[in-house]
Amino acid sequence: MKTLVIEGGHLLEGEITIGGAKNGAVALIPAALLSDEEVTIENVPNISDIDALIEILEYLGAKVISQGTKIKIDSRTIENKEIPESISTKLRASYYFMAALLGKFKKVVMYFPGGCNIGKRPIDQTLKAFSELGATIIEEDNKYTIFADELIGNNIYLDMPSVGATINALLSCVKAKGRSVIENAAKEPEIVNVATFLNNMGASITGAGTSRIIVDGVSNLKGSYIEVIPDRIEAGTYILAGALIGNNLKIKNVIPRHLEALTMKLKQMGASIKINKDFITVSKTNHLKPVSIKTLGYPGFPTDLQQPMTVLLCMASGLSKLEETIYENRFQNVTYLNKMGANIEINDNVLKIKGPTTFVGCDVLATDLRAGACMLLAGLVAKGQTRITKIEHILRGYENLLEKLKEVGAKIEIIE
Ligand code: EPU
Repeated sequence: MKTLVIEGGHLLEGEITIGGAKNGAVALIPAALLSDEEVTIENVPNISDIDALIEILEYLGAKVISQGTKIKIDSRTIENKEIPESISTKLRASYYFMAALLGKFKKVVMYFPGGCNIGKRPIDQTLKAFSELGATIIEEDNKYTIFADELIGNNIYLDMPSVGATINALLSCVKAKGRSVIENAAKEPEIVNVATFLNNMGASITGAGTSRIIVDGVSNLKGSYIEVIPDRIEAGTYILAGALIGNNLKIKNVIPRHLEALTMKLKQMGASIKINKDFITVSKTNHLKPVSIKTLGYPGFPTDLQQPMTVLLCMASGLSKLEETIYENRFQNVTYLNKMGANIEINDNVLKIKGPTTFVGCDVLATDLRAGACMLLAGLVAKGQTRITKIEHILRGYENLLEKLKEVGAKIEIIE
């Protein structure tokens, strides 16, 4: 188990370059196996979730060549075999293989996926998409056997705009016979990234990024190229670091439009933030105003920034409210923020945050990925030393974390 040790209170100055989006890359890699030729994915983040997906590809027999942030994947040698539970439970995104293998071979056998423990995360909408296309699903002790003689395009109505279900529906429709329409689709930029990749292979997808995606099935998919979009959650986390303790901290390689839900709130709070074409500069301000925030699907405020945002709300003078609408248990960071000096009350799915707070370093836990990012931000601004255990959770989603933060002046170490 690794521990992150932070000596708080040091101003962050200089530049941080944002890597490729975790939640884009983790779908693009399984999507690659749908191609009948070699594909290239650029700007892949250096995080452990990517290693886990490459392990699955190699287990299936694909040829994977990693060259820095570029990955070449050739799936011509792939064998459609059962993916063991020990691999699929490493991460949520393993279930993109369910859809990609079903789309390619019309059969898949694999287990329920893993992922952060942040509340119930069923896969019913994904399974509904498969059965709308005509697949039979047999479930036994978390093991799914899904097959069809032929996948036939259909209308797929999602009960909620789930990111995972939207991508799985797309992956299973691209080679289905005829037209599929995904209604109430999620609109996240990572979905557009996946659709672009598939279209570059020769798929026929329109409407990605809206709530109605139309897919006309094709029988072959050729080689293609895609660049992973910048990670808006990594960018948002460092923007928050800048608002907490930055001095002209420059966050480079971002798409500001993808960050508007966050940057609008920061402006409303009175933070010092300058938005440029592909970089954002942010500095600490002493007088922040409280605000109310509700997490929503894109373009609403992202749930993945809810926990990191809590730290900034603690610094505002007065009462802020933060409502989590996507996950039922994404407040495990609150106990530890209160231990560090925050004044936060949990009422069902709403946090009441009374600021301003003087954070004082102590021993805390990264209960999940974004809770870990939240504790990291609190540690950067706290008086004294903060020790965060179980930081493996953070390293799943933030590439070269130590290097990026040390480069801008953070006093931070990892001890085993
Ligand atoms: N849901 C269902 N049924 C489904 C699918 C989802 O009820 O079939 C519910 C879930 O219970 C949850 C909500 O819908 O309450 C959101 O689930 P969603 O499917 O949208 O989440 P996901 O696709 O599993 C992705 C990201 C998450 C991110 C969410 C929301 C990946 C691998 N994960 O999850 O990322 O929070 O979308 O934007 O892309 C993270 O990066 O920290 C993270 C958790």
